[in-house]
Amino acid sequence: MMKNPSTSPFCMLSCLIVLLALPLPPLLADPDSLQDFCVADLSASASGNGFPCKPASKVSSDDFFFDGLSKEGDTTGIFGTNLTSANVLSFPGLNTLGVSMNRVDFAPGGVNPLHSHPRASETVLVIKGRLLVGFVTTGNVYFSKVLRPGQLFVIPKGLVHFQRNVGKNKALAFTSFNSQLPGAAVLPLNLFASKPSIPNNVLRKTFQVEDSVVNSIKSKFGS
Ligand SMILES: *[C@@H]1O[C@H](CO)[C@@H](O)[C@H](O)[C@H]1NC(C)=O
Repeated sequence: MMKNPSTSPFCMLSCLIVLLALPLPPLLADPDSLQDFCVADLSASASGNGFPCKPASKVSSDDFFFDGLSKEGDTTGIFGTNLTSANVLSFPGLNTLGVSMNRVDFAPGGVNPLHSHPRASETVLVIKGRLLVGFVTTGNVYFSKVLRPGQLFVIPKGLVHFQRNVGKNKALAFTSFNSQLPGAAVLPLNLFASKPSIPNNVLRKTFQVEDSVVNSIKSKFGS
């Protein structure tokens, strides 16, 4: 009897390769939800993608309400900015809905330091003051703009970006994301304050500087 070629080990491998090479459906943001809402039960541990739902019978209007962005943050820290997040962890009603927001307060000269959001694109809406907003592409092209109140800039998903208050007074912006938990890799902390820390010889070679420079930067972030 002839062996069915489609079940031969060779085909299993080659068919898998063909399947992997097929174009995947676009997966640009969080997956779509399969119900109206699924208020996160944060006491249960996140499994795979997101949190289990709180029983619908226990959900009230307050689950869709968040007051955390109404208050100005303290901007006396080293960056002169303060970020308040309305993501699934602080606002469980966002679970499975694929959106979130931040409030960012800026002292004069304050910088929301270079960072990237691995899971979301971002729109930046300035409410007060003047903000320089910039990002860098993977091809190292820099795009930036100074925004005034009511103006918007978009940061493509995953790209390194920052905002800086270039006005004389405080500034305020709201950012929104197409993810319930966009994540933020804040470069200075990622590189110089990880736990355990990245070996100095890696940072030295990466930035082509002396050990003392690496140690000096590390010391700014308490490590
Ligand atoms: C941001 O502001 C809040 C409220 O004023 C404060 O509790 C928090 O420590 C501030 N965070 C930073 C990083 O300065």
